[in-house]
Amino acid sequence: MENLQAKANKGTVLVTGGAGYIGSHTCVALLKQGYDIVVVDNFVNSSPVSLERVTKITDKTFPWYRVDLRNREQLSEIFAKHHIDWVIHFAALKAVGESVAQPLRYYENNLNATLSLLAVMDAHDCHKIVFSSSATVYGNPERLPLTEDCRLHTTNPYGTTKLMIEDILRDLCAADKQWTAVILRYFNPVGAHPSGLIGENPQGIPNNLTPYIAQVLTGKLPFLQVFGDDYDTSDGTGVRDYIHVCDLADGHLQAIAKIKTAGAHVYNLGTGHGYSVLEVLHAFERAAGREIPYQIKPRRAGDVAACYADPSRAEHDLGWHAQYSLDDMARDLWRFYTQNPHGYEEK
Ligand code: NAD
Ligand code: UFG
Repeated sequence: MENLQAKANKGTVLVTGGAGYIGSHTCVALLKQGYDIVVVDNFVNSSPVSLERVTKITDKTFPWYRVDLRNREQLSEIFAKHHIDWVIHFAALKAVGESVAQPLRYYENNLNATLSLLAVMDAHDCHKIVFSSSATVYGNPERLPLTEDCRLHTTNPYGTTKLMIEDILRDLCAADKQWTAVILRYFNPVGAHPSGLIGENPQGIPNNLTPYIAQVLTGKLPFLQVFGDDYDTSDGTGVRDYIHVCDLADGHLQAIAKIKTAGAHVYNLGTGHGYSVLEVLHAFERAAGREIPYQIKPRRAGDVAACYADPSRAEHDLGWHAQYSLDDMARDLWRFYTQNPHGYEEK
């Protein structure tokens, strides 16, 4: 499992949740840019196969550990073994509906994992963290496009864990000037690595739009349910800021490279453009070369009409902006599904 490498000049990044969807793409980007990485994941929502695929894409091996972040003793051993310069903290449970049904599990995992991580980092004199937050902290958007200073409020326990962790990081940075925390608020990550080797591992019936569309295209589901066509948007369907997962991964690298001052820094990572459900559907039709059946259904409870970012702070401070188009996202997600019809499971 472990395969220590010579320390590269750029330093070592510990990636929590590195086997997951966004984590695995960020591991690829880090390795390609010459960082060393160490991955910690308990695989509650991922597979070690994704880490093998990271090695296949980059031709680089790296140490990884099957450890739950809440286990401080085991986490401490990892920090004792490796000199860690930065932590990128992806590990969390992330399903909104599940968090409503099982709030304690979400608070327990997401908060305790983070508190344990911060305590162990402090004990090992590592004080630089990038945290995966979400546009969900804006709740029902106060105004559009969303800037980082918009009102924060949440509508479900998952979102509340994100906002609570943001607050913990802000309090920590205020209390102890050694800490640097970069809070990245992701909009709607979609797509997959252009190699088709890593992507979002499909499990069960998806809640999110693009994996659902992909399963209609593979014939696993009969048609897309479009939740509402009576919103105040261009074609009446919901509008979101979809961002290619590789652009998102690059945002983390820019954060690590550019942030030199202590304290809490918050950035939206989105494209700044909103696309409707039907525009996304048509992009997938172009990618797959065939029509996708759909039916208009009532609005989904808790959905907002539109949500998209003002990403100009990230552009200004980090020199980052999204490069991939909606067609790129559809093409790359469809390639991953075509090449991995059973996800990382071999069947
Ligand atoms: P993911 O489920 O694919 O990855 C999360 C990883 O964390 C998984 O590999 C899981 O096994 C691991 N994990 C969870 N709890 C753990 C624990 N206690 N100890 C060790 N490992 C643990 O999810 P993702 O889509 O890659 O999301 C990454 C991060 O980005 C999450 O924090 C998520 O909340 C946030 N985010 C995701 C989205 C999205 O739509 N994908 C949007 C906004 C924010
Ligand atoms: N939609 C459909 N049919 C589906 C699924 C979704 O019409 O089968 C529509 C939704 O109504 C919405 C749009 O597609 O208009 C996007 O829905 P998603 O579920 O893909 O994404 P959301 O914006 O609702 O939620 C996502 C993440 C949350 C996160 C939120 C804000 O899933 O975790 O973005 O960042 F909190």
